[in-house]
Formats: sequence, C-alpha cells, structure tokens
Amino acid sequence: MQFQVKQGFVQQEATDLLVVNLFEGETTPGGALKAVDEALNGLISQIIAAGDLKGKLGETHLLYGGGALPARRVLITGLGKQANFGVPQARKAAAAAAKRARELSVTRFSTVVHGAGQGGLAAHDAAQAVAEGSLLGAYRFRSYKRDANDKDRPEIAEVVVLEADGAKLSEVQQGVAAGQAVGEAANWARDLVNEPANYLTPRELARRVVEQAEAVGLKVQVLGEQEMAELGMGSFLGIARGSDEEAQFIVLEHIPQGYDLASLPTVALVGKAITFDTGGISIKPAENMWKMKDDMGGGAATAAALLAAARLNLPLHAVGLIAATENMPGGDAIKPSDVVTAMNGMTVEIISTDAEGRQVLADAMCYAARYNPDAMVDIATLTGAIGIALGSDLAGLFCDDETLRSRLMQAGELTGEALWPMPLWKPYRKLLDTDVADMKHTGGRLGGSITAALFLREFAGEQPWAHLDIASTAWQEENSPFAVRGASGFGARLLLELLRAYAR
Ligand code: BES
Ligand code: MN
Ligand code: ZN
Repeated sequence: MQFQVKQGFVQQEATDLLVVNLFEGETTPGGALKAVDEALNGLISQIIAAGDLKGKLGETHLLYGGGALPARRVLITGLGKQANFGVPQARKAAAAAAKRARELSVTRFSTVVHGAGQGGLAAHDAAQAVAEGSLLGAYRFRSYKRDANDKDRPEIAEVVVLEADGAKLSEVQQGVAAGQAVGEAANWARDLVNEPANYLTPRELARRVVEQAEAVGLKVQVLGEQEMAELGMGSFLGIARGSDEEAQFIVLEHIPQGYDLASLPTVALVGKAITFDTGGISIKPAENMWKMKDDMGGGAATAAALLAAARLNLPLHAVGLIAATENMPGGDAIKPSDVVTAMNGMTVEIISTDAEGRQVLADAMCYAARYNPDAMVDIATLTGAIGIALGSDLAGLFCDDETLRSRLMQAGELTGEALWPMPLWKPYRKLLDTDVADMKHTGGRLGGSITAALFLREFAGEQPWAHLDIASTAWQEENSPFAVRGASGFGARLLLELLRAYAR
C-alpha cells in the first residue's frame, strides 16, 4: 500500500472511491461531507434523515456519484459520537473504510484526514491514524493460497490522502509517514504470527528478523544453542531440548543517529517466541493445539516495535530480545521434576513442561541486565488464565512501578491495544516454593497468571519492570469491522508508543 498526500478538495477529486466521514448524531453534514452533500443535491442529508446512516464507529455507507461528482463512489465512514472522539476512533474509522474498500475490489481510493477538521485532532496525529488504520484494515494473510494476490479482492495499491489546507500539508505528510512505519510493522508482526510453524521455525524467524533489521539499520545478533550454553542459559535450553529445530536468541539494538547515546534512556523489551507450543511432555489436548503457532506473538511484537523505532529514528536506546524455540516432546525433552539452572544461578524445578514461556523468558530477562536498562518490559502469550480473567480485548499488565505502569496504560489507550492492571500479589510467591530447588515454576491453576508473573519477577533485576500477558489478545477469533480474524499483532503498536514516551 502506497500513500500519496495531496492538496485538494473532495468535490473535485476524480477517484474510484472517495472516503469521507460523519459523526454519530449529526443531522446536517459538515466539513468535507457538506461539500459532497451539496454536489449531490442533499442526497446525504436525505439518507441521514431517513435513518439509514447513523455515523456509528465501524459503520460504513456506500453511495454513487451519479455523475454529479468526479468520484465514482463515495464511502461514508462513521466516527462515533464527537464527545468520544480521539485518535483511536480516527484509526478505527480509517480501518473500517479500508476494509470495506478492499471488499469492494477497489485498488485505489482517496480519503480525507478523519478528525483533522471538526474532530479537532492535530493534523499529524490524524494523518498518522489514517495511514495506520488503512494498513490495519486492509490486511489479509494469503501467503499459502494459490491465488495469493486475491483476484476478487486484490491488495489496495494506493491511498491518496486529501488535505484542503496547504498550510497543513507537511504535517500531514509526516503523520502519514509515521502511520505507514507503524502500520507496516504491525502487519509484519501479524504475518509472522499467522505463518504456519513448519515454515516459521526459530531459524526462519531469526532470518526474517535479521533481514528487516538490516534494512532499517538496527544492530542485530543471533545466538545459537552453543552460545546460549556458554552464557549459562540452562532454563531456555531446557525447553529447546525437546525439539530438533535449533533455538535462537535474537538481540536487536536501536541506536539512534545524531544523538549522544549515553544521554538517552535505555528500554529493554523481551519477547516470548515459542514458534509452536505442543506443551512438550506435558502435552496439550489436540483440539485447539493448532492455535499454538501464535505463541511467538510477544517476540513478533518486540521485533516490530524495534523496526518501527529505527524507521522513525526515535531518540532513545532500545533493546529487543527475542527468545525463540519450539516446545516439543522429543526423546531428549525436559520432564516434569527436572531441575534447570538459569543464567543468574537460580535453580528451577519443572512441574509442567507446558509452562515453557517463563523458562525462556527467565534467561532472556537475565541477559537484558547487560544493558543496564532504565526500564524492562516483557511481552508473552504466557497463560490461558489471563483470558479467563480479562477476555480477548484486554491484555494483563503486571507492574509495580507507577511511572512505567501509567506510560503503558496510556500507550494502551492511545493505540487501542488495551491493558488492564493485574496484581503482583506477594503472598502468592510462596506457591512457588519447593523442597527440591530454589523455586518451582508453577503455582497451580488458581491465580495462574499472577504466579507466572511472580516467577518472572525473580529474573527482572532492580529497574522498573512490567510484564504483559497477551495470551488472549494475540489471536482474534472473529472478524470485526476493523480487522480480519487471526493474528492481531497485539503489542507491536503499544510497545512502539511506549518507546515514544521514553523518547520524549
Ligand atoms: N502458550 C501457553 C499459553 C496460551 C494459552 C497462549 C492459550 C494462548 C492461548 C503457555 O505456554 C501455557 O501453556 N501455559 C499454561 C501454564 C500452566 C501449565 C501453568 C496454561 O496457561 O495452561
Ligand atoms: Mn505452554
Ligand atoms: Zn506457550
């Protein structure tokens, strides 16, 4: 999808599809919609009066120019109530429009910048939302279809972003570029998650990350099992043993150009990337096991955030650590009751080989200490229990540092990747006590997301740390007006927004 920012007026735009918008509850069109309505002799006012167009967020309404406009079709996308309007709503309206455009087989459309006029958003932010939303809404995963290009619903080649006010053009231009960087990174993360696990092995994941990292100028290093052994990553390697595929530890570093690195904050992101989670010897039931290809969603989000940070040259030092392996029940696999030693010397008794995510994160988090970060955030499809607690919209946020927590909450609100605070309840730490090792790694079914977080805390070091449990948000079961079902890319945009907050 290419973007072109153009100074122009909707009523003069020759295009297959012109996207304009309407606030919910508005009875007389304003702004760009007014110009279109006048050209169409009040047709839109009539549709509103008839009650067939409400302007609800996610609603789209298609009509035809009938020769009265240079545009062949007009698509009105709802912005919701003006009182609730902000950047997330502008992004969603753009996503709904792009999704509908693709369903219409339109390969080029022109759109106004939703929210930049009557909506009162800064031109840059509104333009970013339009580009980002368009990319997210038009996304499909078709790599394994013979008709990969989708003859019936081809990819959208170009989006023309119209801005009437010449003074705002350069701001719109910059916003569109930012939205493109963010949207493309998020869609890249979705591709990785949707990718079948026989194709996306740990080595293939590493290859793809390296390819992208090099293209945007990230520093990148990939450690294999030999190097991990030398570092003493016995916890991570314990999980990797059951698989014939070699585990990979991917280290990404964003060092912005034109800044004194020592004066910038360092943020370390750590992502779980189990390319497939069978459960290992504690094997999972067959029924929904196929979905466990999404168990690398945290790693994908981490890599995507670093890629976008580099593209935007954010003024901060960001580190992305991605712990990639399969969790398989091979002949050499780890067993319940086995004891492993993590990089920090902590011994851990394995109770369920299906609690593999915390084992790979433990060593990755120890490794993060090397960078002496100002903040550390891990992101993982860690526990089924988080879905029981929070459902499929909200990810669990575990964080005892107020500043980091509020930055993450804010990033969640702004990006629509919503978080909900969960407790690092100290009394439950004793559920991880065992007679055999320093600690066992599970604390039973009740409060399973909390004990998982308490386990991770043992490896988090002293700086502010947050844990994001995205097990129930990484994969969406249903289509929505804004996105197709499947991988959501959850966390990519959120983490980027967090990096932006530290860069400010
Ligand atoms: N990858 C799973 C968690 C998961 C569950 C992700 C559902 C996405 C959807 C994780 O490795 C896991 O198996 N967790 C166990 C932990 C238990 C054994 C303590 C779980 O949640 O059942
Ligand atoms: Mn598991
Ligand atoms: Zn897992």
